[in-house]
Amino acid sequence: MADSEPTISKGLEGVYIAESSICKVDGQNGRLYYRGYPIDALAKHSDFEEVTYLLLNGRLPKGKELEDIKKQLASARDLPQGIIDIILEQSGKADPMDTLRTATSALSAYDPETPDMSPAANMRKSLRIISRVSSIVATIGRVAAGGKYVKPDDSLGHVANFMYMLNHKAPDKRQLDIMRDMFIIHAEHSSNASTFGTMVAGSTLADIYSAITAGISVLKGPLHGGADEAALRMMKQIGSPENTEKYIESALAGKQKVMGFGHRVYKAYDPRAKIIKAYLISLQPGASQELKTYTAIALKAEKMMVERLGASHGIWPNVDFFAGPVYTAAGIPVNLFTPIFAASRSAGWAAHMLEYWQNNRLFRPLEKYTGQVDLKYVPIKERE
Ligand code: SDX
Repeated sequence: MADSEPTISKGLEGVYIAESSICKVDGQNGRLYYRGYPIDALAKHSDFEEVTYLLLNGRLPKGKELEDIKKQLASARDLPQGIIDIILEQSGKADPMDTLRTATSALSAYDPETPDMSPAANMRKSLRIISRVSSIVATIGRVAAGGKYVKPDDSLGHVANFMYMLNHKAPDKRQLDIMRDMFIIHAEHSSNASTFGTMVAGSTLADIYSAITAGISVLKGPLHGGADEAALRMMKQIGSPENTEKYIESALAGKQKVMGFGHRVYKAYDPRAKIIKAYLISLQPGASQELKTYTAIALKAEKMMVERLGASHGIWPNVDFFAGPVYTAAGIPVNLFTPIFAASRSAGWAAHMLEYWQNNRLFRPLEKYTGQVDLKYVPIKERE
């Protein structure tokens, strides 16, 4: 029977790959739920350790359980010297996302449980990775700023310790509030490209270190996690609110993608962008001139893009658009934005991997072959 004409879904648009109870992305109404809890409530009341427990275990922790996960994450923070050496060696030479990918991959050499694929071992390894990816990102930022490795402070929570290892001083209240929010908001988003990449790797029964290394590799691209850095670089390039209209007009006329806008699933305002934008507005009193300028540019670009492409094309601000100015307010350098996204999303990657392994099937899609068949081999001498 001749092959029936296959339908190809470019980029797997509209294709369901699994059932999951981890995250609901309501693209039409612009709503987001982690295990049923609206993101706004979690951003307001929770912290990264509690959200990590929720994503990995499917419910909010009780007192002792929250204490235990905080202890487990804290106990894995300190980096082996071999990992620190990778960061020192690559600093100034490699993109921070490349160093993060390399260092995270190398973590497997320091975990005797790497080959143990039992659910209990996979949970323990997941927590070690979630803890250490944050330590790696903080150390990359610290070394890039000319500092030395800072040993973790176990008296601090996960995000506060991240900032301590980054700056060698505990964050002030404003920095901590900002970063706590950003770690929660970036932790999970259903089957996005980097989570899918993680799941593809793990579906071969490769270990969790291999799977999460794949996730980091995928997240780097500017169409995905790299958009937060690209959006701020765009704002730097625009330079002033007065230049915004001309810049956006020419980008759209040239069919260029304006970074921080649009989404494969959200055809309404990304609820995370709403939270981050509100945060940015709340930071205006007493803000630096730099932050005020970024904010004015961002609001002008948002107004233009929403008027031109919002309701008509379903292109709205996404999680990456306002993130840059908010990270800037917390003193985060632009090339650390995507690594921080990875540090947070390591919780979501791990949650999806642990869930998928409960009913694992190798991912192996098809391609519609358009080439020739049964060609006759011609020896090189006869090819001239
Ligand atoms: C994240 O999947 C997730 O959940 C990801 C994420 C998560 O938490 O994991 O939410 C995080 O990655 C957010 C997205 C960050 N990326 C960017 O901001 C990069 C800019 N955005 C675009 O590249 C784009 O919107 C994507 C990649 C996000 C979505 O792309 P699609 O679904 O493949 O859509 P498309 O590229 O086919 O665009 C459809 C149309 C095109 O116009 P036509 O060719 O049909 O005329 O919309 C246009 C595009 O040109 N378009 C844009 C645009 N995004 C889409 N035009 C201008 N600026 C944009 N940003």
